[in-house]
Amino acid sequence: MSYTIALNFEDGVTRFITCNAGETVLDAAYRHKVNLPMDCSDGVCGTCKGHCEQGEFDLGDEYIDEALSDEELAEGKVLTCQMVPSSDCVVQVPAASTLCKTAVGEFPARVAEVSRLSEDSFELVVDLDEGEGLVFLPGQYVNIQVPGSDETRSYSFSSLPGERHATFLIRNVPNGLMSGYLSGAAKPEDALTLTGPMGSFYLREVRRPVLMLAGGTGLAPFLAMLRQLQEQGCDQPVRLLYGVNVDDHLVKLDELDGFVEALPDFAYTTVVADAASEHMRKGYVTHHMAPELLHDGEVDVYLCGPPPMVDAVLAHFREQGIAPASFHYEKFAPSLAPQDAKKEAVA
Ligand SMILES: Cc1cc2nc3c(=O)[nH]c(=O)nc-3n(C[C@H](O)[C@H](O)[C@H](O)COP(=O)(O)OP(=O)(O)OC[C@H]3O[C@@H](n4cnc5c(N)ncnc54)[C@H](O)[C@@H]3O)c2cc1C
Ligand code: FES
Repeated sequence: MSYTIALNFEDGVTRFITCNAGETVLDAAYRHKVNLPMDCSDGVCGTCKGHCEQGEFDLGDEYIDEALSDEELAEGKVLTCQMVPSSDCVVQVPAASTLCKTAVGEFPARVAEVSRLSEDSFELVVDLDEGEGLVFLPGQYVNIQVPGSDETRSYSFSSLPGERHATFLIRNVPNGLMSGYLSGAAKPEDALTLTGPMGSFYLREVRRPVLMLAGGTGLAPFLAMLRQLQEQGCDQPVRLLYGVNVDDHLVKLDELDGFVEALPDFAYTTVVADAASEHMRKGYVTHHMAPELLHDGEVDVYLCGPPPMVDAVLAHFREQGIAPASFHYEKFAPSLAPQDAKKEAVA
């Protein structure tokens, strides 16, 4: 019997390790050549403290209060030198991956298919040479090297881990490097490299109603999360508000309809910003956030989309004093061109 432990480092890198029955997370990490912060390894110093976001474990009773207080334990803090998992777990490590002598994984892949979903978006399907090796948490992203260049772009998986094919929903940005490649040169069998997985935007254990807010191709991580909910089951209400600029940009509605059928309590609402649209709901997602979606704050909110959309929702929550029980967001920020990155560094 062994468990999968996701170690999320401070710099956004995630490494997955297996932990054998009775083994501590610290020892399992060491076996995988990941040197987690530690000093005493006896539950005395507190150096190995992390945060367990998900999963069951036993800490025993050998550690001392100075290393981990009851208040910290109640907040989900753990000592990895004492932590013996009894299920798969997600542990946040307050150190950079490089300090722990580990690095982000590199996975060779090939283009399987590129389809144009709308004027504004593509679906990229890649064939993973090592499908089994690329584990990630639904909602996370990888950096994909743009074929024919040394540059990478970040994309959230819309598929589930462990599948031979990984899928991505990608916006068609005018004059964009990846967009240009997908519109023209891309062909099956093109080689590319995926680097990751990365990010802290992933589905947490569902203990209360969930509200998902997607803008444009920000729908991608929610497709992965909904697939996971379909696979593992979910007894909480899940609602998705999906906003786009014009009617044609609404994609994957058939899949969303499939989740309505498959999940016990899932519904989605689409919103179109274009004033000329005949869509029944116009404007932005913030215009359609009915109070019942917020469950008086007893709700986990996940938000993903282009920076202006994410900023608008954050401002709306601030102005309305909306404070959900948990709030996670991902901005699809454009990558900086090398010359812009330099300007930013000296600014
Ligand atoms: C963590 C993370 C996850 C992401 N996941 C996704 C995803 O799942 N799907 C997805 O479509 N995108 C995603 N993105 C954005 C993606 O990484 C690229 O920035 C985007 O696809 C543009 O790449 P490109 O090579 O086509 O354009 P680039 O060559 O990077 O850009 C060309 C020009 O367009 C500008 N530009 C780039 N993006 C935008 C934009 N959104 N709006 C206006 N101008 C822009 C650039 O500043 C530049 O001037 C993600 C970004 C991050 C940081
Ligand atoms: S390493 Fe000292 S408490 Fe864990």
